Amino acid sequence: MVASVNTADSFDDLMACHLDAGRKAVGPCSIVIFGASGDLTARKLIPALYHLFKEKQMPVAFRVIGFARREKTDDSWRAELRTALDQFSRTKPVDDAVWREFAANVMYCMGDITDAPAYQKLEVMLDSPGNLALRKNMLFYLATPPSQFGEVAGQLHHAGLLRRGNGEGWQRLVVEKPFGHNLASASVLNNELTRFAHEQQVFRIDHYLGKETVQNILMFRFSNSIFERLWNRESVDHVQITVSEKMGVGGRGDYYEEAGALRDMVQNHLLQILALVAMEPPVSLEAESIRDEKVKLLKSIRPLKPDAVATQVVRGQYFAGVVNGLTQPGYRQEPKVQPDSNVETFVAVKLFIDNWRWSGVPFFLRTGKCLPLGASEVRIQFRPTPHVLFAAACGNKLDPNALTLRLQPNEGISMRFNGKVPGTSVAVRPVRMHFSYDSEFGAYTPEAYERLLLEAMSGDATLFIRRDEVENAWQIVDAIRKGWEGKPLTNREFYAAGTWGPVAADDLLAPSGHAWRDPQPIK
Ligand SMILES: NC(=O)c1ccc[n+]([C@@H]2O[C@H](COP(=O)([O-])OP(=O)(O)OC[C@H]3O[C@@H](n4cnc5c(N)ncnc54)[C@H](OP(=O)(O)O)[C@@H]3O)[C@@H](O)[C@H]2O)c1
Repeated sequence: MVASVNTADSFDDLMACHLDAGRKAVGPCSIVIFGASGDLTARKLIPALYHLFKEKQMPVAFRVIGFARREKTDDSWRAELRTALDQFSRTKPVDDAVWREFAANVMYCMGDITDAPAYQKLEVMLDSPGNLALRKNMLFYLATPPSQFGEVAGQLHHAGLLRRGNGEGWQRLVVEKPFGHNLASASVLNNELTRFAHEQQVFRIDHYLGKETVQNILMFRFSNSIFERLWNRESVDHVQITVSEKMGVGGRGDYYEEAGALRDMVQNHLLQILALVAMEPPVSLEAESIRDEKVKLLKSIRPLKPDAVATQVVRGQYFAGVVNGLTQPGYRQEPKVQPDSNVETFVAVKLFIDNWRWSGVPFFLRTGKCLPLGASEVRIQFRPTPHVLFAAACGNKLDPNALTLRLQPNEGISMRFNGKVPGTSVAVRPVRMHFSYDSEFGAYTPEAYERLLLEAMSGDATLFIRRDEVENAWQIVDAIRKGWEGKPLTNREFYAAGTWGPVAADDLLAPSGHAWRDPQPIK
């Protein structure tokens, strides 16, 4: 992220100045995608690169080389990508002329990740007599099963394509989630990667960090004095973070049986959102300053002992129900799922942050599949007024003030407060002040992968997860899993598809007089 000095006078100049300041200068480079024939490449990576090209944000010289085992030629791969782009592009129709210009830089290298000669073939393709920078600056995107990350790094190193540390030019590894399945496996993976690359060359993806609204959490907090002053235990009663999904596991039952909601969502997306919401102001916008603060925050989360897991964590699993008018089978009836599976499709956690700012403030996190609405939201609920002046008119309990950051969909920010109902009587009711991204900025919202690929090419690691972040997050998740060991799901932990999770989840908040505030559809 780049800080801007502004000398602009008018509001329009100011906006233009900010846009220019935020634009990345990216030098010529090659992007090698391992896993070129896979789902992620077709659905996310190529559409993101195409859009960066269309928006003139790609380097003046670049090339994309796809690496996978399936037999393809440059032309047949381009044709497949074009079909996928027609389906997955965020702008339609695809611009033919732009695509043709982009596709001229796209090539395919057939090979097996474990096969050393395949890397020699890759090296020949990378050698470009016309533009040496394309051979020196290389982004290796690992869109393969994580068990192959170490192998790719090692093979690249032995082929002379990946040097540890940057000499002339740069080489970077972008690695996908899941990054390990517990602390031990994540540490092994980190050791494997950092044998062949410096930590600064490893860019671990959490695509949530590429979302505009997630990045806006820091902008919102640290560029508005009115909110920052309220952002502490004095004013905040509690915080709710919800990441809900409408879909079931579909065809990904085998993956989900290994992962579950805790590993799939809490370890990465929810803890990352929590860190951004609760961290201290960084000393600068440098990647390391921001990541230092996130790590400090993760370290301040009170460790969960196994007996605390029973009272502070609720898991759940969906049974058959109706979501959006459609019948949804239960998790245990999904393909590639064990009929007696105990894997959680829902998890809710109550966490405390033991530091000066947040002492005593509970943070409630929840995520689940087959919930009534797919939405991600952070709700900051403020303390009640010290005394209810309008008790005679509206009872002893006023609706609490709340600030809701809607991360997706219908991205925006709402403030809830109480207002007088017009009329001669004294009646109070909650009203809402709302900022919507769409109405303010138009419909242009780049996909998370566009931003992430651009940042990785420009070498800015702010939106990627550092080694100690990933390991601290696993420590929190491992403690929860330990508390679940040997304990099958109980009746209270099942929920019907299409509802907001198991009844047990309400018990997390009820003792303190709170309740979940479910995200609402916004028109
Ligand atoms: N898809 C998503 O939306 C998504 C979301 C988040 C994270 N991810 C992560 O992204 C990564 C890729 O996911 P995906 O869904 O794209 O997987 P996928 O569709 O199964 O694709 C896997 C890719 O890896 C290649 N591959 C596997 N073994 C290989 C070998 N020995 N040598 C060369 N290539 C090999 C496959 O190519 P060949 O079979 O042609 O060799 C294929 O291109 C995974 O780590 C996944 O967890 C994916």
